[in-house]
Amino acid sequence: MHNSAETRRWRELDSRHHLHPFTVFPELDAKGSRIITRAEGCHIWDSEGNRIIDGMAGLWCVNVGYGRERLARVAYEQMKELPYYNAFFQTATVPSVELAAKLADILPEGFSRLFYASSGSEANDTIVKSVWYYWNLMGKPEKKHFISRTLGYHGVGLGSASLTGMRFMHEPFDLPLPRFHHIGNPYWFAEGGDLDPDAFGKVAAGWLEAKILELGPENVAAFVAEPIQGAGGVIIPPSTYWPEVQRICKEYDVLLVADEVICGFGRTGNWWGSSTFDIAPDIMPLAKGLSSGYQPIAAVAFHDRIADVLASSGIEYAHGVTYHGHPVAAAVALENIRIIEEEGLHTRAAGPIGAYFRDRLTNLAEHPLVGEVRVSGLIASLELVQDKARRQTWPAERKVGLTCREHCFASGLVMRSIRDGMVLSPPLIISEAEIDEIALKAARALDLTLRDLEA
Ligand SMILES: Cc1ncc(COP(=O)(O)O)c(C=O)c1O
Repeated sequence: MHNSAETRRWRELDSRHHLHPFTVFPELDAKGSRIITRAEGCHIWDSEGNRIIDGMAGLWCVNVGYGRERLARVAYEQMKELPYYNAFFQTATVPSVELAAKLADILPEGFSRLFYASSGSEANDTIVKSVWYYWNLMGKPEKKHFISRTLGYHGVGLGSASLTGMRFMHEPFDLPLPRFHHIGNPYWFAEGGDLDPDAFGKVAAGWLEAKILELGPENVAAFVAEPIQGAGGVIIPPSTYWPEVQRICKEYDVLLVADEVICGFGRTGNWWGSSTFDIAPDIMPLAKGLSSGYQPIAAVAFHDRIADVLASSGIEYAHGVTYHGHPVAAAVALENIRIIEEEGLHTRAAGPIGAYFRDRLTNLAEHPLVGEVRVSGLIASLELVQDKARRQTWPAERKVGLTCREHCFASGLVMRSIRDGMVLSPPLIISEAEIDEIALKAARALDLTLRDLEA
């Protein structure tokens, strides 16, 4: 434990020198950061010695949990052996090759090649450029428009932020770029009106067809979507949605990009969210769970029908970053995948622990504030509402989600708020006792939030 003089110093330095992502700076300055100093399993500790259960696995990424000696050892050994070498000049490193082969092994049939990046954002920017390049190579240079969804999250680069469907991320930066379009999402709870979820799923898929027809199928390059929209609020589509989207993409020769950055590596009970929803994508960005957050590494997996076109072109693929396939990051990712396989973490969310998680959270639906509980594998959201029967949310100025998040944090639980949805995505190693801890702390935070609202 660090004494509060040290904590104060770190907070001051942080405030003076460190610009945080996705932050209103004066708000953070007024409050000061909570300094996180160590972690083990599903728990993190702050500099004041508080033990907090991490219901978000960091930022949806620490799938194998914290404190894995094996990953530290592999990084150390690789740094001693070869800390860095690039792949630009007809060279490669052993970990980057072994990892590519391992991923080809666990990816769906037909995905035998991939390209590395260092973040999900970079992976999605790589996809934007590669898709444009692909259609150029295919002799269809007019096929350049991207369609994605409101509340979809695909990152912060110029292309990936343009794919992202969040206005607050566009307006300050003069985005999206031209040729990026957003359609509505399959968020039945908010948008479904009087339709039942299955009927609404078909309506929401129909928005894709309508947009393709409006733009002209000959102009549409790809549809990009997460199997479950994570940062948009854990929007789990009705079962009718994906089959219809798949049909539409096929019919109009539009590439389907399934963003697996959150859903990949076991989050929904399969290696891939695409498998859980029976999607057959053309391209998949991978990040987060690829290394469980122990190293910054991402990848774009191309189906052979795309990769073969790119790989047979005689033109230079003039794209890539210094840390492409970084050997330390790749070695750690490979070991991380070995751990996932050995411990069966890729299917754990589909087994008894996933069922337990669902049961414990479903009990919270009885709370007066909870209008809906959505769960798939080990990812979930609790929608906080003013009126359950009418699915009516609170006025934004009441900041219900933020209030609840603060109560969670104060009681030793990290639960993220997205609008008034309280979101969970814990490490895949979570135990029943730890799920109980989350459920108990969440129930208490809900009570305190209700008390504040009534005050
Ligand atoms: C689905 C999805 N795609 C892409 C990204 C961007 O990844 P990164 O933050 O590593 O750039 C994220 C990040 O949360 C994500 O959730």
